Amino acid sequence: MTSRYPEIYRRSLAEPEAFWAEAAEAIHWYKRWDRVLDASRAPYFYRWYAGAECNTCHNALDRHVASGRGEQTAIIYDSPMTGIVRAISYRELLDEVARFAGALAAEGVAKGDRVIIYMPMIPEAAIAMLACARLGAIHSVVFGGFAANELAVRIDDSTPKVIVSATGGVEPGRTVPYMPLLGEAIERARHKVKRCIIVERPEIKGELVAGRDKSWGEAMAAAKPRACVPVAATDPLYVLYTSGTTGEPKGVVRDNGGHMVALHWSMKNVYGVDPGEVFWAASDIGWVVGHSYIVYGPLLAGNTAVLYEGKPVGTPDAGAYWRLISQHKVRALFTAPTAFRAIKRDDPKGDFIRNYDLSSFRTLFLAGERADTDTVKWAETHLQRPVIDHWWQTESGWPMCANYAGLGFLPVKHGSPSKPVPGYDIRVLDEGRNEIKRGEIGAIVVKLPMPPGCFPTLWNAEARYKSAYLEDFPGYYKTGDAGYMDEDGYLYVMTRTDDVINVAGHRLSTGGMEEVLSSHPDVAECAVIGVNDELKGQVPLGFVVLKLGVNRPHAEILKEIVALVRERIGPVAAFKTATVVQRLPKTRSGKVLRGTMQKIANGEDYKQPATIEDPAVLPEIAATLAGAGFTGATTAKAI
Ligand code: COA
Ligand code: AMP
Repeated sequence: MTSRYPEIYRRSLAEPEAFWAEAAEAIHWYKRWDRVLDASRAPYFYRWYAGAECNTCHNALDRHVASGRGEQTAIIYDSPMTGIVRAISYRELLDEVARFAGALAAEGVAKGDRVIIYMPMIPEAAIAMLACARLGAIHSVVFGGFAANELAVRIDDSTPKVIVSATGGVEPGRTVPYMPLLGEAIERARHKVKRCIIVERPEIKGELVAGRDKSWGEAMAAAKPRACVPVAATDPLYVLYTSGTTGEPKGVVRDNGGHMVALHWSMKNVYGVDPGEVFWAASDIGWVVGHSYIVYGPLLAGNTAVLYEGKPVGTPDAGAYWRLISQHKVRALFTAPTAFRAIKRDDPKGDFIRNYDLSSFRTLFLAGERADTDTVKWAETHLQRPVIDHWWQTESGWPMCANYAGLGFLPVKHGSPSKPVPGYDIRVLDEGRNEIKRGEIGAIVVKLPMPPGCFPTLWNAEARYKSAYLEDFPGYYKTGDAGYMDEDGYLYVMTRTDDVINVAGHRLSTGGMEEVLSSHPDVAECAVIGVNDELKGQVPLGFVVLKLGVNRPHAEILKEIVALVRERIGPVAAFKTATVVQRLPKTRSGKVLRGTMQKIANGEDYKQPATIEDPAVLPEIAATLAGAGFTGATTAKAI
């Protein structure tokens, strides 16, 4: 079949307003838009469906129940961590969401108020998100693997009225009690949160704080269901914090109208699933993938979504994904390449795959980090299904480059997430802001305006939105990724242009880790870089220069540093490796040569930059790493 993609892509750029007005017909609006695209604040700020009124929860739930989808399963909660498998119908989900909206309203939460959701992968997390959407309140989900300090930073930036949390999460071999983390975060934050609603999980005990906390059960028992509150299409649905170039996270804002249109459009056209079919994004609600494709996308499109509390391996084995696909008749799976590297490592011959009936399964989608060709080929060979690498970011909220299950696949080119998604005019520019020749590496940018669904601004930080994303390449959004486009228009995403690293599909800032290292009393200077890792793609590696006169054993100091990052940022940082060096390599203007250090650590060839302050330092770094047995491109080991 020839793909309909070329024609649809062409039209999306030639007639964007007509294109997105047509796509918006799939959504229920209380009031239609005055303008499809409001460019009155161009060249920086664009708004989709200005003047329209809608409600995301209505489109995700009420509308489907009203049209006869009430008995269809909306969410399958599958938790090998607790042994629970629970199917929740659209009708049940609507009832619970409406009631929890009542519980939030009883605590004074109204349209425009913020609610932080700090929760493990349990259905109550999705219920809380949808309940906020129902009230027009703005949720901010914080990933459970972040520590108290990260939560405190998000509390201060989003100033929530209520925090919804749980007594804890379950990780393989351990539980993660949330109550101490929540208590510490509330204590540290300047903004004082007066009310928390806590899911009491039987697996994890937690003391509720009298006067501050209410249990989920208690709140629900007393609650009266609430109806949907109409909001402006341009009102925020959520704020999701992501790593930037400093330790201060960026609050990515998502609106209601454009977000619904984009996600709904993607379910059929990108992912190729029809209403009633099962879609599984094996991610976490704390990440953008979880927001878009565990909760909102599948529900907006009338699919059945899978909420999985488990890992690709070890819960109980490398057959976990295949068990879920066969048991729940999953049509399309979306996960990060790191999950497949873990499966491939434990089951290199794909023996587990043969134990399950995968006849329902059509397509595998990978994103979140570069999909290495070995892993893609392994999945293709063993699954005998299309394996689609696609590229996107927290900021975009949905794919920017993909291949198209619904429009007809384009030929797959390994190493490339294929071609720009309709609505995205993607270019590759050089430092002089000129488009560069096909095949040459440059900054990947998107010509403004971005399509619906992409973030319209940063929470409370309009100036940062402009400076971080829009000012370096006027007229374009800077993705922060570098790469090239080939002669056929396929994009290749090679690396980040900032200090963001990607650890097991999780986006982390090395700048944020450096801030933690610098706060250790014995550290004079430090640098953190991302080095290649067979399983996680990248892992952080720290270099510290000690203050003069510090003569404690290095091993002791390094242990403290590793513990400090875990305590301040959280286990998700996977910061386990650091070393002491005499000095850091710098340019004459004092810039630390992190890129060159990265090459050395990865065992790649490197050039001595002409601007280096002292040429002796790089060989010193190489010798320190070699002396510690660090060869790069290997699973991290302590040095
Ligand atoms: N709450 C608390 N701690 C968490 C957590 C959570 N929600 N999620 C992860 N952690 C902890 C882990 O237990 C681990 O702790 P440890 O240092 O004590 O072992 C640490 O954070 C690092 O986690 P992770 O990087 O995920 O590594 P892992 O070794 O536990 O698992 C994979 C490796 C590949 C199996 C895992 O990363 C995975 O399942 N990836 C799937 C892809 C994915 O979810 N991507 C998200 C974006 S699409
Ligand atoms: P996040 O905001 O956490 O989704 O991370 C987005 C970043 O992950 C992107 O800017 C890329 O650096 C990286 N990324 C996501 N998907 C891909 C992909 N398919 N190929 C290469 N890099 C990717």
